[in-house]
Amino acid sequence: MAQVRKKVGLADLREGMRVVAITKLDQKFAMVDSQTLAKLRDTLPGARYVVERDRQQLKLDVYSLKAFDTVVRIEELPKNSAFAKVGSDTATELERLGFYEFTVLAPSQQPSAEKPAPAAQPTVAAAVRLKQHTSNDPAHVARVSETRQFLESLSASNAERDSASQAVEEAMGDARRGKLRRTTLDRAVSSVMSRGAAPAMRAIAGLKASDQTYAHCVDMSVIFSMAYEEMARVSKARASVPLSSVLVAGFMHDIGKSSVPKEILESQQRFDPDGEEMRIMRGHAEAGAKILSDLNFGTDVVNVAQCHHVKQDTSLGASYPDVSYDAVRPVTRLVAIADVYQALIGKRSYKKNWVPAKAVRFLMDLKGTEFDERYLGIFLRSVGIYPVGSLVRLNTGHVAFVVRNDSNNLERPVVVVVEDANGNRLSQNDLVDLMIAPDLSITDVLDHYEHFSESPDQPYEVFSTLQF
Ligand SMILES: [Fe+2]
Ligand SMILES: [Fe+2]
Repeated sequence: MAQVRKKVGLADLREGMRVVAITKLDQKFAMVDSQTLAKLRDTLPGARYVVERDRQQLKLDVYSLKAFDTVVRIEELPKNSAFAKVGSDTATELERLGFYEFTVLAPSQQPSAEKPAPAAQPTVAAAVRLKQHTSNDPAHVARVSETRQFLESLSASNAERDSASQAVEEAMGDARRGKLRRTTLDRAVSSVMSRGAAPAMRAIAGLKASDQTYAHCVDMSVIFSMAYEEMARVSKARASVPLSSVLVAGFMHDIGKSSVPKEILESQQRFDPDGEEMRIMRGHAEAGAKILSDLNFGTDVVNVAQCHHVKQDTSLGASYPDVSYDAVRPVTRLVAIADVYQALIGKRSYKKNWVPAKAVRFLMDLKGTEFDERYLGIFLRSVGIYPVGSLVRLNTGHVAFVVRNDSNNLERPVVVVVEDANGNRLSQNDLVDLMIAPDLSITDVLDHYEHFSESPDQPYEVFSTLQF
């Protein structure tokens, strides 16, 4: 049955709804104490907690909460949590705990206090059901099963992304004190690799905001590492740089920012391109190269730190330091592209994030000026024209998230439908493999931040609760 996602208060909770987030909490959550924390651990262990700590907003699991944190929202309530399924006495229990407002999935014909739910659209079932586009083709079967695995890995990869960002932050702190050790990032790198978290982390990078220093390095790194794997695949040569070094190079590419005073690094302003702050900021490239070569990192890792801001046309104002483009190694040419891409899709204090598909189009225009055409081609084949996590409209009017790309046919990804042609949100999300649905096509890319504007995390919330 079609379902809609909506915000409801205690009085509007009805049996059969599913609570996916708690959006208004009692005053006692403004400064949690150890007793409240213990209670949360008992009642909602699997959810994610958006908290304010030291004027920063963080999203944590329940075990990472600390006394005096302000809990702003509770998100991603697991399907098996105590309140996921609303029963006859759920509202009373939620009120007793101090939870007052919720995001729920409700059957679309359920009467709502605010506005009548739209009638179920018979055309939804008729238009794009996986059933109508099934095939025994082994390639299709493999795509569907990989998609399932990918979506199931999202939540663990999200936690992996948080801990990798923390590792980068620690490494930068260590470097600031002159105490960086090669081993600091090894655990984060091997954890990302062993869990195969890169594809999910890359999708998350396009669905959630990142800080511009630490999560930036992690997001850039997984985006770059996947492009590097594509490079190794198409060149049919064995990758000359092992994947662990590729990830380290990504994590450490901005390590020289540890030499930049925090007032400049964390400034909310946009600097004058010819000003002193910009000169200091640009020093991070040479500073990073020195830190890494002092620690005996290999030539490629050092080159990435030193040359990731060198443009193909070195006369461009944004190109630094002053070295010839010949000095920029292949891995670094790819990093330079991934770095700009991440900067566009990541959060900057002075601009809103771009959706990945828009960033891809922007990169295409920089071919031959900022970027080497060959490496740009490799990069684009890796992220796709409609990167995973893009929200697209189909020729039927339905709205869907892209969940898997095939580098052999980037126009025809696997998508999961989230809305019917009339804008009704669906909770049973039909999966459509466009490779076997020749009558369906993508007509438009939507801005998922504008489309799901209830909260900055809503696009990720919807993406990570897709069900088919
Ligand atoms: Fe940089
Ligand atoms: Fe960077």
